[in-house]
Amino acid sequence: MSKILEVKDLSLHYLTRFGQKVHAVTDVSFTMNQGEILGIAGESGCGKSTLVNGLMGLFIPPLYPTGGDVLVGGESLMNRKPEDVRLNVLSQKVSMIPQGAFNALNPTRKIKDIAADVIAAHGSGQSVSKHQIYERLKERFDLFGMDTDHILNSYPIQLTAGERQRSVIGISTLLNPKVVIADEPTSALDVTTQKVVIKMIFDLLERNIFSTMIFITHELPLLRHVAHNIAIMYAGEFVEYGTSTQVVHDPRHPYTKALMGAMLSADAGQKHRKPTTIEGAPPSLAKTMVGCRFAERCPSARPECKQKTQSMRMVGERLVRCDYAE
Ligand SMILES: Nc1ncnc2c1ncn2[C@@H]1O[C@H](COP(=O)(O)OP(=O)(O)O)[C@@H](O)[C@H]1O
Ligand SMILES: [Mg+2]
Repeated sequence: MSKILEVKDLSLHYLTRFGQKVHAVTDVSFTMNQGEILGIAGESGCGKSTLVNGLMGLFIPPLYPTGGDVLVGGESLMNRKPEDVRLNVLSQKVSMIPQGAFNALNPTRKIKDIAADVIAAHGSGQSVSKHQIYERLKERFDLFGMDTDHILNSYPIQLTAGERQRSVIGISTLLNPKVVIADEPTSALDVTTQKVVIKMIFDLLERNIFSTMIFITHELPLLRHVAHNIAIMYAGEFVEYGTSTQVVHDPRHPYTKALMGAMLSADAGQKHRKPTTIEGAPPSLAKTMVGCRFAERCPSARPECKQKTQSMRMVGERLVRCDYAE
């Protein structure tokens, strides 16, 4: 299998108006092969969406790369001009399905015009007429049994939440990107609509419209069924990375264990679905952190954990950022 995405020691920070650095992503490394689905989970504020920007080469102030590299198909996305990224990377190499479809769609344009705008902005080297774009989009939407003519000729406000999110998915995958990143694509939707949206994403995968995907979600039950590998993110770092079976059924990092416990008990199908809760909150990423970032909340922390920086190491055939994990 060929490597499609290589992320090497990627660190990213925001520079606030007060000159303070927020270290949102620290030393993230992983590789994806073509056809692989990687799930990423972790509490809010752990740096998942920031990482997504880095994986698209989108460094828009106040976000800056601190170090490391991202390569798509062997080509680095670092140190590239925004114009170059817009024309040659976005939508073609890497495309994102965002969380809020409504914000992603220009309210003053019809869906068909928004699609044309996207191709015009990102489709360098692909000279397609407006009519061809319409036809391509129609073909895509028809595949999914969507009310294509109605959707394409509507403004976002005239569509249901599900139609809007599916339109975004259709548009963001129109150029058959090498890697698709879905950043909590269903979190703003009701359960029925979530199912329709998930089905569309997996239909696109099945039809090979794209084959490599990063799926960020709180829905671990979903992730364990679809992802080959799962990364757990905490306070800007990956703390565990392994196959979904390893991570879900046999977690080794104390944070993964806590997260799994909370998420899976919420999934058990009981009527009393509780939100995911773990005692305490993730640390502020604006501080310089010493030692293990989870130590404050870790039920098995030892006194030395607060001083000793933890590195990823192999534990039971997966990577874990904890010296004491077994
Ligand atoms: N524009 C910004 N300026 C400063 N800090 C930011 C900015 N955007 C996000 N952050 C901070 O970066 C951290 C990671 O945020 P984010 O990547 O959105 O996390 P997640 O997607 O996991 O919820 C958070 O602490 C957040 O407050
Ligand atoms: Mg996010």
